[in-house]
Amino acid sequence: MNRKLIAGNWKMNGLRADLSIIREVAAGASPSLQAPELLLCVPATLLGEAVQAATGAALKIGGQTCQAADKGAFTGDISAPMLAEIGAHYVIIGHSERRTGHGETDEMVAAQARAAVNAALTAIICVGETLEQRASARTLEVIEGQLAGSLQGLKSPASFVIAYEPLWAIGTGKVATPAQIGEVHAFIRAFLVDRFGPPGRGVRILYGGSLNPANAPEILPIQDVDGGLIGGASLKAGDFLAIYATASALTV
Ligand code: PGA
Repeated sequence: MNRKLIAGNWKMNGLRADLSIIREVAAGASPSLQAPELLLCVPATLLGEAVQAATGAALKIGGQTCQAADKGAFTGDISAPMLAEIGAHYVIIGHSERRTGHGETDEMVAAQARAAVNAALTAIICVGETLEQRASARTLEVIEGQLAGSLQGLKSPASFVIAYEPLWAIGTGKVATPAQIGEVHAFIRAFLVDRFGPPGRGVRILYGGSLNPANAPEILPIQDVDGGLIGGASLKAGDFLAIYATASALTV
C-alpha cells in the first residue's frame, strides 16, 4: 500500500491573515512516517511564509503551477527552481483550471512536469474528464490521452503523483461515485504499470473534486485511491485535518 498523500489546493485564496490556518494544520500533522503525508499548495505570494509556518512540522508546502523554462522573459510566471529555492516540495501541474483557463495543453503540462522534476520537486499531474465526455462514454479514452501526453519524457515514477479530478466534480459539491472513482483509478494504475513496470504501482493516485470530511470515509478506502487533492475544504483547518484523520485511520 502506498503512503497516502492529503494535499490542499488553495487556488487564488489566502492572505497573510490566513497563515494561521497553515499553523493550525501544521500543529495537527503527525510526525510518524506511517501517517499520511500532508501538503498545502498555496498562492506564490504566501509560499515563503507558509514554509516558515510549516518548519519543524510534518507539513509540506507546494506551488500550484510552474513554467517549463527555468528563467527568462515570462512576465508573471514562476519557475520550478524558484519554487524549490523557497522551500516548496511539490507543485500541482495541469490543473483543469490551468488547462481550460490558460490554454495549457498536454505537451505544456509534460514540459512543466519535467521542469518540476529537474528542480527536485514532485509534480502532481492532474487529469480529468468533462461532464460531456463522461456522458458520451469517452472518460477512459480522455484520461488515457491526457496521461500519454502529460507524462511524456518523465522517466522516474517516483517523481510524480497523478490527481484524477473529474471537471464536473471540482468546486460543485458533486462527487464521483465510488464505482466511477474505482474504475478510473484502476485504469490509471494499469496505464502506469504498463508504462513503468512494477514501479508504476508506487505512483500515488489522488482523487479530487468536492472531497470533504463527510465523503472522505467513503472515497479514501477505495482501491488505488492513494489520497486526495482538496480545494474548498482545505481552506478550513478543521475540515482539512478531518480528512487527514480519515486517511490516518486507514493507514494504522
Ligand atoms: P474542490 O477542488 O475540492 O473545491 O472541488 C479540488 C481541486 O480543484 O483541486
